[in-house]
Amino acid sequence: MTKKIIVANWKMNPRTAKEADGLLSEILACKTVLKNAEIIICPPCVYLDRLSAMLRTPRRKLQIKLGSQDVFWEKGGSYTGEISIPMLKSLEVRYVVVGHSERREYLGETDEMINKKIRAGLKAGLKVIFCLGEKERDDRGGYLKDIQKKLNEGLSKVSKKELSNLIICYEPIWAISSSKSARADTPDDFLQTSIYIRRSLFFKFGHKMAHQIPIIYGGSVTAANVKDFLIDGKAGGVLVGRASWKVKTFADLLKSL
Ligand code: PGA
Repeated sequence: MTKKIIVANWKMNPRTAKEADGLLSEILACKTVLKNAEIIICPPCVYLDRLSAMLRTPRRKLQIKLGSQDVFWEKGGSYTGEISIPMLKSLEVRYVVVGHSERREYLGETDEMINKKIRAGLKAGLKVIFCLGEKERDDRGGYLKDIQKKLNEGLSKVSKKELSNLIICYEPIWAISSSKSARADTPDDFLQTSIYIRRSLFFKFGHKMAHQIPIIYGGSVTAANVKDFLIDGKAGGVLVGRASWKVKTFADLLKSL
């Protein structure tokens, strides 16, 4: 059975390195060891080094992987504030989130920049979690055009042979807990949208690849709805924001799987 992908996106939390250590230790101490799930913790990049060290025992490594919330496409040079792929690899970080709506909105990330990050990440063998979703859900299907555009531009010039490391995260922006009056999508609607995404992948890359690429869901996922997305929505996994940076809510979510 394919493992479900659980991405914990800590965003800009917690406030101190000490708290980050504590949060990871408590997650590691949870008795819920999941055989059927792959847990990827994506902390702020300044904590990656110390958390990577904490995970560096063979037993722990099996349980939890680390991901970065962003990456830059150049290997090095004069790019103030950026993080390169070799830097991430030196910390044993194998996953990277690209194109999160908050970076698109607050930091002006464009589809072109996202495409460069995706191509660089896949080429270097990183597992790329490519986020996309619409701002509004209209009832005439206009939102699907938005998804299609983000998908086409994000995956432009990506070669078929690099796709085995791609994960697509559909995160409708209106469903993200930080949005005004956020509410989770329904598993049924997620399923419909993921079929639409898979159909686009089919036209672009053919049947085999379209079938293999995991499509996960993000947006107000909690212990109460995670299983519905995984079972009824047939999601390949979930990306969890708010419920992932408090031990109690994250542990409850893992227990409910
Ligand atoms: P949330 O974040 O779980 O806090 O809604 C999800 C996301 O960032 O996609």
